[in-house]
Amino acid sequence: MNVALGVGGGIAAYKAAELARLLMEHGHSVQVVMTRAAQEFVRPLTFAALTGRKVITGLFPGENAADTLDSATEHIRVAQESALLVVAPATADLLAKFAHGIADDFLTTMYLAFTGPVVLAPAMNSNMWRHEATQRNLDTLRGRGHIVVEPEEGPLACGMVGPGRLADPARIAEAVNTAIARTRDLEGECVLVTAGPTQEPLDPVRFISNRSSGKMGYAIAAAALARGARVILVSGPVHLTPPAGAELIRVETAAEMRRAVLERLPEATIVVKAAAVADYYLAQVPSQKRKKSAARWSLELDPTPDILAELGQIKGDRLLVGFAAETENLVAEARRKLQAKNCDMLVANRVEEAFGADDNEITLVLRTGEVIELPRASKRELADKIFDYLLQLRLSLHAAR
Ligand code: CTP
Repeated sequence: MNVALGVGGGIAAYKAAELARLLMEHGHSVQVVMTRAAQEFVRPLTFAALTGRKVITGLFPGENAADTLDSATEHIRVAQESALLVVAPATADLLAKFAHGIADDFLTTMYLAFTGPVVLAPAMNSNMWRHEATQRNLDTLRGRGHIVVEPEEGPLACGMVGPGRLADPARIAEAVNTAIARTRDLEGECVLVTAGPTQEPLDPVRFISNRSSGKMGYAIAAAALARGARVILVSGPVHLTPPAGAELIRVETAAEMRRAVLERLPEATIVVKAAAVADYYLAQVPSQKRKKSAARWSLELDPTPDILAELGQIKGDRLLVGFAAETENLVAEARRKLQAKNCDMLVANRVEEAFGADDNEITLVLRTGEVIELPRASKRELADKIFDYLLQLRLSLHAAR
């Protein structure tokens, strides 16, 4: 694989040489891009000798000692030719620039032009690491699906002791390999995702719904796209921008969602039902707005069709993933729903954790009986973990046959 290695200006820049060596050992071809600050710490020649390639040190020919730039659009070429971008050390400044799309040198410009997976290995002083600005930028970058290889705790060059030391190059190389393995592992798959709440009308202006934001379902769609799948996203009403490349079908009610899902099911190889479907609806919706009065208003609601249970009956070879939002007995309830609805995986979360937030803590219950607790992480990172376990599960189900 062609890997672009961005080196930022920090004391840990010398450790990037070890990373370059490890990546080469793993069979990758490495194009190093150094920021101006990085060159204050390590000479480009070190990387050129290790990788056997000229090192890019600037956006313009004059900034490149070795005259490596053939054209003014070299950053686009490197972006297109690289399978992955890893940045080590990623300084607070680089994280801020990536998070906000500031492109004022080769590395930051190339980052914007790059569409593949990104691995970031930050290193900095502990206070800079803990600073709200840095942490918010990291949340933004994790939300984009980038892998952040957390720095380690220990004595820092500035004399402080705390988090901020660049992760061991072997850990960074491992993250690179994980990210590469994920890039095309859903190629040929069609993932049908449902997301968001449904709205069940009571009259022309009122409806019943729930607190689902749709963020988990949209993160699942984004992860599937990044891993090479075709994605059909059936979405209830949400305030989110759909990920580029997803085929979006907007629905409002549970009945509309059911219709859309059943219509598109034949194309799907994986179905992820992240939507919080309303369990009840009003069968006879009045055509006129109900006027306010002092009298009590009682409604009789009918149960909506359980789309997931219906899919469980007709799923065939498809992988079926259900969700469960619970306030108590999380794992027991997830197990019960997995069996009752014939799912391959049930993603269980606590109601108080799940709704509206950008991160979550989830438990995966698999058809094999395995229970996996995933620590708090961004919904985008969790989406990738869901697919990692789902693909493993498919292998073990095939092997068991
Ligand atoms: N679901 C569905 N159709 C419905 C209700 C739920 O497809 N009418 C799906 C959801 O998309 C989710 C899963 O069922 O994947 C679990 O939803 P949840 O509300 O937690 O479970 P219920 O089966 O409704 O059980 P309960 O409300 O008793 O917890």
